[in-house]
Amino acid sequence: MNEQIQPFIEGFAVQLFQRDLIDWFEREQRDLPWRKDKDPYKIWVSEIMLQQTRVDTVIPYFHQFIKQFPTLESLADADEEKVLKAWEGLGYYSRIRNLHAAVKEVKERYGGKVPDRAEEFSKLKGVGPYTTGAVLSIAYGIPEPAVDGNVMRVLSRIFLIREDIAKTKTRKIFEEIVRAIISHDNPSYFNQALMELGALICVPGKPACLLCPVQEHCRAFQEGVQEELPVKTKKTKMKEVAISAAVVVDSQGRILIHKRDREGLLANLWEFPNCEISSKHPKEQLEAFLKEAYGVHVELEHAFAALEHEFSHLVWNIVVYRGMIKSNVAETERLKLVSEEEIHEYAFPVSHQRIWNEYKQSADSFRPV
Ligand code: ADE
Repeated sequence: MNEQIQPFIEGFAVQLFQRDLIDWFEREQRDLPWRKDKDPYKIWVSEIMLQQTRVDTVIPYFHQFIKQFPTLESLADADEEKVLKAWEGLGYYSRIRNLHAAVKEVKERYGGKVPDRAEEFSKLKGVGPYTTGAVLSIAYGIPEPAVDGNVMRVLSRIFLIREDIAKTKTRKIFEEIVRAIISHDNPSYFNQALMELGALICVPGKPACLLCPVQEHCRAFQEGVQEELPVKTKKTKMKEVAISAAVVVDSQGRILIHKRDREGLLANLWEFPNCEISSKHPKEQLEAFLKEAYGVHVELEHAFAALEHEFSHLVWNIVVYRGMIKSNVAETERLKLVSEEEIHEYAFPVSHQRIWNEYKQSADSFRPV
């Protein structure tokens, strides 16, 4: 065993802990759609969706996604545009771009079978140690650790570990602990039970220790310090970016939309035309930008919405204008005029879906004559 974790494991009743934890999971686990079978493809999809997104939000997306792409092969063969559309609103789109690339690789290199060896599976795009452990343990019963933020919170309390969970190297300590205590009879339930405990009982802030099935194994509870854990340093303040955006229509009521770059934030998603504000005249700046970048002459009116959208690392403060297109538009693969019906076929990030909703709702909705 790794020396660093030896002091934590000493005196810990591993088998009793496994039994208490797994018995509880068998009794109390939530009825979740990805728990219905052990298809590694479905488990993989669910684990990618569940990164950074709450279970309640994921459930309807999961049903719809699996209905649309029921097998790994159907996803591998699908158009990127359709795949992005199915993910629309879930955010963190690099997750789906990576998953799409990864299932293509599985189809080509492994004949469509999700690899059951950690060395192979973990080399696929977007697959880190957490996803490797979750998919291999749940789908194939392999005793690999699946340590995310929730599991670190649970284990930091059980073993009274005060390492900063915001630091990358801390996760390795927890992975070693899981390697030492995971059930080899039922690694799937062991890992899922730790996740479930983090979701239902050992929650951030005030955990429900009186209902906890492993309370008697918990060193933080014994010391009464469960609410001090985990230790997590605050991340640095988010960068704020001011943006002007516009919903502009032509004389036939068609709306101008633009497809973002192939690389970077929200790659290949559609958006309403916009630019970063760097002057005191955001409206005029956006008009000039549209002329210069797309050769489109627009006249913008008043702003009808101001919204804030938070990413993991930055905040967009978007001011949105309405306006009319006053010139021809040379349409391309990445610049289109679409009707209000057609717009629903394009995948937009949440921030731009919100722009559209605000536009539709604004009482004095502009109607071209
Ligand atoms: N969070 C991450 N993976 C999960 C799972 N398999 N079940 C419930 N919550 C989760």
